[in-house]
Amino acid sequence: MNTHNLLRALTSENDKTPIIFELLNLKSDTDQIYALAKATRDRVFGNKILLRGIIEFSSFCRCRCSYCGIGAGRRKSGYRMTKEEILEQCADGKQAGYATFVLQSGEDPTYSVKDICDILSEIHNRFNVAVTLSIGEFAPQEYARFHASGCDRYLLRFETSNASLYAALHEGQTLESRLECIENIKKSGIQVGSGFLIGISPDLNDLAKDIALTTTLALDMIGCGPFIADNDTPLAGRSFPWDPEIALRTMAILRILNPLSHIPSTTAFDVLIPTGRDELLKSCANVYMPNITRQKYRADYQLYPGKPGIDEDCSVSMEKAIARIRRCGLEPSFVRGDSLLKTTFPNFMVDK
Ligand code: 5AD
Repeated sequence: MNTHNLLRALTSENDKTPIIFELLNLKSDTDQIYALAKATRDRVFGNKILLRGIIEFSSFCRCRCSYCGIGAGRRKSGYRMTKEEILEQCADGKQAGYATFVLQSGEDPTYSVKDICDILSEIHNRFNVAVTLSIGEFAPQEYARFHASGCDRYLLRFETSNASLYAALHEGQTLESRLECIENIKKSGIQVGSGFLIGISPDLNDLAKDIALTTTLALDMIGCGPFIADNDTPLAGRSFPWDPEIALRTMAILRILNPLSHIPSTTAFDVLIPTGRDELLKSCANVYMPNITRQKYRADYQLYPGKPGIDEDCSVSMEKAIARIRRCGLEPSFVRGDSLLKTTFPNFMVDK
């Protein structure tokens, strides 16, 4: 099939995986994929790119995922912010205009569920913003407590749809329990973001399945990034398995299949491709998440080497983001940007 027919089949056929595979396997004539992704993004989101501020509040993690640079025992130094520090950073972010904060950390049990709930309530008491948590796996009732305290959204990637690879990469964890967590977050009423690590499996069939699974999950937000090998991990020295363009194409296909999902242009794309995040802004992304973590902490939160912006402070990261968005012919937006799946087009969920 040529690209045109593959794209038609992609949006009409039920079994999408073989078509996704064919699209990923194309050696030429890929412009149409990007053009359709862009048309889809523009139709739903116009020229607006939502800005959300990320606060990386603890670099400690009890997990030892094979790919991740901040896995337990891998870094010589680390940090934990106090509740007051987190709130101060939120105050700075609010002042700068953000209407969403993403609180991210390793899985750090030093913060109890009550601590996290207190932080959530306090943020809602002081600032009129949406809060996203990205702090790992919890029990169903714990996600419910987060929701009750004001957690609007939650990010938890499934990383790979290949269950045996998942088990090999995540000591003592299973894909099944990861997917259950995602389901539990959804059931608790929190808007859910998930996605995968592009290239963590070198098999293009797995990549096609990752895209298909992401689409089946009907996510409010889809966050993916390319795998970047870190020297302090068991995967040191491994390179991205394909032409980097495949990572961009992955996101374009996701956009076509998930017109209403929020799709951020994630940091790791800039490490794989110098203009990576621009390419995504020009084709399929509708979200950009500048780092608003204080500069003094940034070097200690490197999940992979070469993470940009570790020498910047909040205001510089924001100015750069705005300049970049405008250079791509788009406009930054500081609204909350809640899920479109739940609020605007309820029937669409049924169709999906
Ligand atoms: N390269 C790219 N992304 C990574 N992450 C963790 N380690 C790496 C790496 N080496 C991603 C994971 C995780 C997210 C917070 O960061 O997908 O879910």
